[in-house]
Amino acid sequence: MLSTRSLLSAPALLIQWSPCNGREFNTTISLQCGTLPVPLDYTQPDPGKSFHLEIVKIPAPVQPSRGSIQLNFGGPGSPTRADAVVLGPLLQQGTGKSIPFICTDDSYYIGQILSQVRSGNDSDNALRRLWERAKADNYICQRLGKGNDTAEFIGTAFVARDLISVVDALGEDGMLRYWGFSYGTTLGATVAVMFPERVDKVILDGVQNPHDYYHSPADFEEWTDTDKVFSYYFTSCVEAGPEKCALAALNKTAAALEQDVWDFFDNIRAAPIAVGSDVLDLVGLKGFVIEQLKVSAAWSSLSQLLLALIYGSERELFLEKLANALSAGSPGGPANIIPVQSLWGIHCGDTIPRAKSFDEAVIAANKLSKISRLIGDVVTWNMAHCNQWPWHAKETYMGNFHVKTKNPILIASNSRDAHTPLKSALNVSSGFEGSGLLEVNGTGHAALNVPSVCSFKAMVAYWVNGTLPSAGSVCEAPHPFDGFTWADVFQEAIGSNLTRLAQRQGVFRRWLH
Ligand SMILES: *[C@@H]1O[C@H](CO)[C@@H](O)[C@H](O)[C@H]1NC(C)=O
Ligand SMILES: *[C@@H]1O[C@H](CO)[C@@H](O)[C@H](O)[C@H]1NC(C)=O
Ligand SMILES: *[C@@H]1O[C@H](CO)[C@@H](O)[C@H](O)[C@H]1NC(C)=O
Ligand SMILES: *[C@@H]1O[C@H](CO)[C@@H](O)[C@H](O)[C@H]1NC(C)=O
Ligand SMILES: *[C@@H]1O[C@H](CO)[C@@H](O)[C@H](O)[C@H]1NC(C)=O
Ligand SMILES: *[C@@H]1O[C@H](CO)[C@@H](O)[C@H](O)[C@H]1NC(C)=O
Ligand SMILES: *[C@@H]1O[C@H](CO)[C@@H](O)[C@H](O)[C@H]1NC(C)=O
Ligand SMILES: *[C@@H]1O[C@H](CO)[C@@H](O)[C@H](O)[C@H]1NC(C)=O
Repeated sequence: MLSTRSLLSAPALLIQWSPCNGREFNTTISLQCGTLPVPLDYTQPDPGKSFHLEIVKIPAPVQPSRGSIQLNFGGPGSPTRADAVVLGPLLQQGTGKSIPFICTDDSYYIGQILSQVRSGNDSDNALRRLWERAKADNYICQRLGKGNDTAEFIGTAFVARDLISVVDALGEDGMLRYWGFSYGTTLGATVAVMFPERVDKVILDGVQNPHDYYHSPADFEEWTDTDKVFSYYFTSCVEAGPEKCALAALNKTAAALEQDVWDFFDNIRAAPIAVGSDVLDLVGLKGFVIEQLKVSAAWSSLSQLLLALIYGSERELFLEKLANALSAGSPGGPANIIPVQSLWGIHCGDTIPRAKSFDEAVIAANKLSKISRLIGDVVTWNMAHCNQWPWHAKETYMGNFHVKTKNPILIASNSRDAHTPLKSALNVSSGFEGSGLLEVNGTGHAALNVPSVCSFKAMVAYWVNGTLPSAGSVCEAPHPFDGFTWADVFQEAIGSNLTRLAQRQGVFRRWLH
């Protein structure tokens, strides 16, 4: 084990903040930026080899503040700094940092990588092809690109140490306040278990099973409820009626609507469609649908899109819209090439077991497809990269996530989450002695995606007073097609008109992974 104490007892360098509106971010809230040098390699700290964390702070509206909250929105590797700024008005406080990892910035190689994003079940040889393509992508990263520079140094254990370095350099009380979503919950569980004495307040929302994250050859448990949420989409659509869910106008049962979509997936597999400069294929369409399933605010527009695509009304118009959305935000879209590479860099480096052969990978791919028919064949792409990844993180937390933190952490989950199931939240909460569980009976990826007065109050009570929800209590949430927003929550909970700010919750759709 590392001697973290010597590192931490050194007199902390304080971050120097300066205003940075307009420089990088276009927002009217006042921002402060600063940088902090941290060791590139915590196992062999060498002052000559440091890594500069770039941090942006959104000052609390009420001063003096009760301390900074560090944020991580998941991915891993999504641009936290930008997320924090866009979401600042909602969360109103916190710091974010960037984790640079790119394999290559050569447009030819990027084109090669992206042109081959496929479903593992696209055709008879799809999985094999995907496996070999991943090998080639990793070759680009290691032999032709920049992977060697940082790949070993960006693992979650080092980032956990960075969070503590930031705590020290804030010059507050030396205690950690952290709010993590999705992958950010793995980071949060890791920092809390590595530094239990430093925990003041930590919320983990939209929880990954961190055992699975480090020790499985693929993310199995994450997709436990994906198909259930997909079915629930149609059930709640029929309940909501045609005003709120366009598909309901067809007067079909939920099961019949769902079957139509499955049949359409089969059509697209056999006959992909050119839209603009892209080809809409199975992986593109499924990837898009899954992204929408994570955010119930997007459910109504998803129903219009499916109606158009499958049943033909205004089909061309919607195809064009879909093409734009895909190239802007799909897993393979140009906008996402950096997060995708960061995900490989962080998650693949953290993954301990690697399939020794293609045959072993086939077993994992089949298991993924069994867990979720909707996403299993889509995520084989990442699995193929991670299983052949050339690097291991220099440090990995190897314990069992059982700990008693100095102050209890709060774990939040929706009852129906297509990406991080309630099951994983229960798993983590059983390891963190004294932790609280906030279950929201809503649908979406992370409680932050489900506007609820009850969960808002519970989170405020935790941040302000450290109060945990009483055991077994479940927050009610609006029906997913109701169009209830955080603006309504603020209005109801604190009588404050934050409509304009809360309208920005639309960004969750884009950023919360
Ligand atoms: C900055 O944001 C404002 C308000 O959202 C917008 O009108 C303006 O076009 C943006 N400017 C840039 C340079 O993005
Ligand atoms: C990265 O390291 C590997 C293994 O040491 C080496 O084979 C490869 O050439 C290096 N890549 C570059 C671009 O130097
Ligand atoms: C669905 O049912 C409503 C009410 O019975 C009817 O007005 C409408 O025409 C039906 N729509 C279709 C597509 O069958
Ligand atoms: C693979 O595709 C076939 C149709 O070509 C389908 O019947 C099967 O269910 C799919 N398997 C998985 C695991 O998605
Ligand atoms: C948590 O998940 C891990 C990995 O799936 C499993 O081994 C462990 O038994 C689970 N713990 C509990 C309490 O369910
Ligand atoms: C949770 O929500 C579902 C779906 O809206 C509803 O059927 C169920 O009764 C709710 N459960 C509780 C305990 O309120
Ligand atoms: C925090 O506790 C104080 C004292 O008990 C109470 O007055 C206040 O309402 C609590 N604040 C929140 C947000 O729960
Ligand atoms: C809140 O502000 C918005 C935008 O300025 C306005 O349209 C809305 O009527 C206001 N709502 C209330 C309840 O005052």
